[in-house]
Amino acid sequence: MKADKIYLVGFMGAGKSTVARALGRRLGWKVEDIDERIESLEKRTIPTIFSQNGEPYFRAVERAVLNSLIPAHNIIVSTGGGTFADADNRSAMLATGAVAWLDLPFERIVARVPADGRRPLAQDRSRLELLFNSRQAAYSEAHVRIDASRPVDEVVEHLLAWIGY
Ligand code: S3P
Repeated sequence: MKADKIYLVGFMGAGKSTVARALGRRLGWKVEDIDERIESLEKRTIPTIFSQNGEPYFRAVERAVLNSLIPAHNIIVSTGGGTFADADNRSAMLATGAVAWLDLPFERIVARVPADGRRPLAQDRSRLELLFNSRQAAYSEAHVRIDASRPVDEVVEHLLAWIGY
């Protein structure tokens, strides 16, 4: 798939930010992390945004940040786990770039995502599993599914081959 913008989607802990940075180095493209942009725009952390303004407010900022990145070219966008779960965000991303789903089984996610308060939706393991299951259908709408349990350099090679580099 030829594209000048790659969106990395998938659940929390799937490795989106790590893969985005490695891919950015290989392609010489800019890397943008939606969570980081939200925090710098809001000048507070994601847990603080959730606790002070609630999830709907966070989702509105997330959508605005995503929309602000749409005109950019030669860019890799590392999304938050919920970004592609929203139907409007999903159509916008599918229409403006190559969307790759970094897929990892729930057991691996749990091992990687600490309940340390940095991810407000990861505090309760059974709720996290429900959220994981409820998002699979959305993630499966990505242009490609990549097995994210493989080493990062293999994931990057797979992505490069897929976009024709
Ligand atoms: C969220 C995932 C987080 C962050 C926020 C909400 C989600 O991003 O956007 O805590 O709804 O899955 P990561 O996937 O980068 O952890």
